[in-house]
Amino acid sequence: MPAHSLHSDNQHTLPADVPADENVVWHSHAVTRQDRERKNGHRGAVLWFTGLSGSGKSTLAGALEQELFRRGIRTYLLDGDNVRHGLCRDLGFSDTDRRENIRRVGEVAKLMVDAGLVVLSAFISPHRAERQMVQEMLDNGQFIEVFVDTPLAICEARDPKGLYKKARAGELKNFTGIDSVYESPMAPDIHLKGDRPLAQLVEQLLEQLSVKAIIS
Ligand code: ADX
Repeated sequence: MPAHSLHSDNQHTLPADVPADENVVWHSHAVTRQDRERKNGHRGAVLWFTGLSGSGKSTLAGALEQELFRRGIRTYLLDGDNVRHGLCRDLGFSDTDRRENIRRVGEVAKLMVDAGLVVLSAFISPHRAERQMVQEMLDNGQFIEVFVDTPLAICEARDPKGLYKKARAGELKNFTGIDSVYESPMAPDIHLKGDRPLAQLVEQLLEQLSVKAIIS
């Protein structure tokens, strides 16, 4: 996969909600998000999991989705490794490409929230600025930042894909936590200790979704 972006900087820096062409006009549709939420019996929102590679974001998001699905909640899981096989296959791991990765995922998540879904997104999303960019794309209360706080030493010991080993050997550049920065959230909506048992973390998330009135 190429480690460069095919997109011009111009497209990366357009402000949110501004079309590239001034002749493109927004259409309002008859069926609204509120209509869909009423029909679904729950609100739409994004649970934005952030944390190091190997911190447990995907596993946790997957386990939570299973439980939500069992309860009849309409969900969708957006996962970094999977999205990079399609929508973001042209992007690598430079700061610019990571920003574009998160921007695209943010826009997709926004559409899914408008569709009334509970979106679970599992991306390292290492920079505060990008997480804030996604928060600003969404309405108040629709963006829930979940910090999967697992110490680097534990992530590295887990090393499920052998990538930390490669990064330490200098075979993989710009690896988050090794030679690329991870900026921890300062005030996440939900702060999870990633080394706790999975079932306990899922319970904590379900409780918070109720407290925040996303699900009942
Ligand atoms: S992000 O930084 O742009 O948010 P994203 O979550 O999409 O990253 O992808 C991270 C996944 O890509 C990691 O879990 C890992 O499997 C893989 N990966 C490959 N190269 C790198 C790298 N240089 N840094 C971090 N993750 C990498």
